Amino acid sequence: NQLEMELEAIEKGGFEHFMLKEISEQPRSIADCMRGRLDAKGGRLVLGGLRDYMNKFQNADRIIITACGTSWHAGLVAEYLFEEFARVPVEVEYASEFRYRNPVINSKDFVIAISQSGETADTLAAIELAKEKGATIFGVCNVVGSSIARATHAGSYTHAGPEIGVASTKAFTAQISVLSMMALMLGYQRGTLPESTYMQLLSELESIPAKVEKALKLNNQIEKIAAQYKDASNFLYLGRGYNFPVALEGALKLKEISYIHAEGYPAAEMKHGPIALIDEEMPVVFIATQDSSYEKVVSNIQEVKARKGKIIAVVTEGDQTVKKMADHVIEIPMAHEAFVPLISVVPLQQLSYHIAVMRGCNVDQPRNLAKSVTVE
Ligand code: AGP
Repeated sequence: NQLEMELEAIEKGGFEHFMLKEISEQPRSIADCMRGRLDAKGGRLVLGGLRDYMNKFQNADRIIITACGTSWHAGLVAEYLFEEFARVPVEVEYASEFRYRNPVINSKDFVIAISQSGETADTLAAIELAKEKGATIFGVCNVVGSSIARATHAGSYTHAGPEIGVASTKAFTAQISVLSMMALMLGYQRGTLPESTYMQLLSELESIPAKVEKALKLNNQIEKIAAQYKDASNFLYLGRGYNFPVALEGALKLKEISYIHAEGYPAAEMKHGPIALIDEEMPVVFIATQDSSYEKVVSNIQEVKARKGKIIAVVTEGDQTVKKMADHVIEIPMAHEAFVPLISVVPLQQLSYHIAVMRGCNVDQPRNLAKSVTVE
């Protein structure tokens, strides 16, 4: 009815869809997530939820991360963060597989369960299982008081605010923000991050919201790219290192809301199969920012170009090399490679959004999907 429609329009805050509103909110939601926790100048990092469990966290033999979907992708980013900064072995598990595998878990394991809704049935079951085996369970949830938040021993909320669009956007970047803070804390406490590096990383992380704000300005450019590729029937997303999970996430976003078949791969895996798919009809999205795998990604781009694939590349501002090879370059601000996913995912969210809108899809409530999957 009229009233409901008006209320919804108010909730959308002038945006056409919740998804676009939530994408655009990210500078604020990431800052909200770090507020009161991270103070780079003062060299302070506090996560209230970790206080009573810092000992367990610091002395864990292994970190197991369990989640589903986009939250699982945030877990993959965290694997790189924890291993690099804190030198602790990490396993990232689909909750649905973990719960039925009779996994080896013990009291020296620190399990992190990631969930926007806090109601995902598989994740909740994985938590119960790990708890029975004596592990410490830490939740990274968005919804306050949710089942997962209550089932865990402790946790840190992502404070992204309500996420209405079925496709997760701002919850993903808030999850990565919490996990980044956890990794920095752990590295510092375990002595694997020297004080000066730690301080530098704190300010790098603090600078992210402003960079996301800048990246959002590319929206019009991305809309134009979307118009060119909206009728494609397949998409490939490739990235390496910290940007490998971003490739998976970009592909998932496109599948979910535009119903275009898309696959994400670590760029180097291309030659083991997916390269066979490449022809002049295949758009390939590369995340090719300036980082330790940049040169390697550039050679993967060359391989796609040689097979006439269409190249859409997310690059660091000022990049000249990829510009010469790609059909389109999307330039995002420079950041420390560990925090680039927080920025590089944004244009991919926008790309899937615009393609879905142009195809006439219901972006906020895509077919066959529910916001939280409370059945297995
Ligand atoms: C994300 O866009 C999806 N809709 C979906 O993969 C989601 O991330 C997954 O169902 C997990 O949900 P949760 O974070 O609420 O546990």
